[in-house]
Amino acid sequence: MGIKAEEISALIKKQIENYQSEIEVSDVGTVIQVGDGIARVHGLDNVMAGELVEFSNGVLGLAQNLDENNVGLVILGPTKGIREGDEVRRTGRIMEVPVGEELIGRVVNPLGQPVDGLGPINATKTRPIESPATGVMDRKSVHEPLQTGIKAIDALVPIGRGQRELIIGDRQTGKTSVAIDTILNQKDQNMICIYVAIGQKESTVRSTVETLRKNGALEYSIVVTASASQPAPLLYLAPYAGVSMAEEFMFNGKHVLIVYDDLSKQAAAYRELSLLLRRPPGREAFPGDVFYLHSRLLERAAKLSDAHGAGSITALPFVETQAGDISAYIPTNVISITDGQIFLQSDLFFSGVRPAINAGLSVSRVGGSAQIKAMKKVAGTLRLDLASFRELEAFSQFGSDLDKATQDKLNRGARTVEVLKQDLNKPLKVEKQVMILYALTRGFLDDIPVEDIRRFEAEFLSWLDQNHQPLLDVIRTTGNLPEDKDMVDAITAFKKTFAVSA
Ligand SMILES: Nc1ncnc2c1ncn2[C@@H]1O[C@H](COP(=O)(O)OP(=O)(O)OP(=O)(O)O)[C@@H](O)[C@H]1O
Ligand SMILES: [Mg+2]
Repeated sequence: MGIKAEEISALIKKQIENYQSEIEVSDVGTVIQVGDGIARVHGLDNVMAGELVEFSNGVLGLAQNLDENNVGLVILGPTKGIREGDEVRRTGRIMEVPVGEELIGRVVNPLGQPVDGLGPINATKTRPIESPATGVMDRKSVHEPLQTGIKAIDALVPIGRGQRELIIGDRQTGKTSVAIDTILNQKDQNMICIYVAIGQKESTVRSTVETLRKNGALEYSIVVTASASQPAPLLYLAPYAGVSMAEEFMFNGKHVLIVYDDLSKQAAAYRELSLLLRRPPGREAFPGDVFYLHSRLLERAAKLSDAHGAGSITALPFVETQAGDISAYIPTNVISITDGQIFLQSDLFFSGVRPAINAGLSVSRVGGSAQIKAMKKVAGTLRLDLASFRELEAFSQFGSDLDKATQDKLNRGARTVEVLKQDLNKPLKVEKQVMILYALTRGFLDDIPVEDIRRFEAEFLSWLDQNHQPLLDVIRTTGNLPEDKDMVDAITAFKKTFAVSA
């Protein structure tokens, strides 16, 4: 059978046309499968890992798995309108979020879009949500305190600016409350706070935002929320979006406190995503890179060197444990990346010791160097006092006769526990913390009945406000303890006015 010349030229023409469309598939692809928030796409040969793509209905996706024959995308929005055969286009952009002052006071989702109904955010700058952490040479060691306003933390496990301190505990042990109180205490401390809520109920986030607003803390805060009803990819991205917003401030020489509440839920979202993308599961069905998931996030917290403006990001990641098990997979991972942990224990919480901080299992590896001198002096022996109290307490239950020294230790311990209790949303300035801890550790509270200690503290502090402002000023401005004589005089004078309850 002969071949006609025009047929050959038609064939060649067709080939050439097809060749051009071959080129096109490098930037455009076709959906071959969609479900569970994941799409598999043929084409997109040139797509980058982590690149944003756009479906034909305008929904965005994020390139995750670059396989030989197809690309696995996570869909950052409703999957409803996406069908097999739909076109997907590259955008050429790595995922970014808006950053800058404009976000302060706002509640946004992980894409930086407002969800508080207060109108659009006119931010002019953006930052990629994934970026390398600050290098060794650009950092400085942690040396300025971050006052949480919580006595048990500032005295026993102090946090410095640029530190990463894990807050870990079972559900309903007051974890979120610690973060909120810390944010409230940053008022007038030249600190910007970012609260990242991951997988929480909308109602909980709402009441958190209200607490911040009521206490005037929203004026220096940003809330990033991916609630429980959002698709897993948004929960996974939320912390990175938050830290990108934080970096913008840090690189401009400012101080930022960022709270991730909580990373267990983020890890679970990432597990969901990875399983759907058919990545091989490892321990507890988490993918192999779950350590990297958290280490690359937490490494972005830093204290910058003076040459880079000396800004800082302090991170308070949260991890929820099951039945107090801090040796599970995610807790041990995060413990190993952070500079210490604050362990909140449910039996303490239910016995009325709130905040329920377990002093024995909580540590701060770098914060001690950031504590002000006065606090260092009064809190020096506190941790040991508390530890030996817990030990003796167990023994004394056998009810045998106790010698005087043991009895004294028990008395002091019981009062220490009382002084370290603190009500919700009542952060205390450091100078006042120092005053009450001074009274405690120098034995001025030993003759006050245990049940009167909290009333004593409240009355003592307001009495100081009225009568001894200079003493408080000395601590606040110099960071040092005032003369011993002045302190003792003040305390003894107050004790004369204090009425012990019958
Ligand atoms: N210092 C405190 N004094 C009195 N009540 C407190 C204190 N801290 C927390 N609470 C109360 O305990 C409850 C649980 O606190 P919170 O929500 O902070 O815990 P959580 O560990 O974050 O819980 P979840 O696991 O649900 O996130 C709240 O009702 C809160 O009001
Ligand atoms: Mg909580």
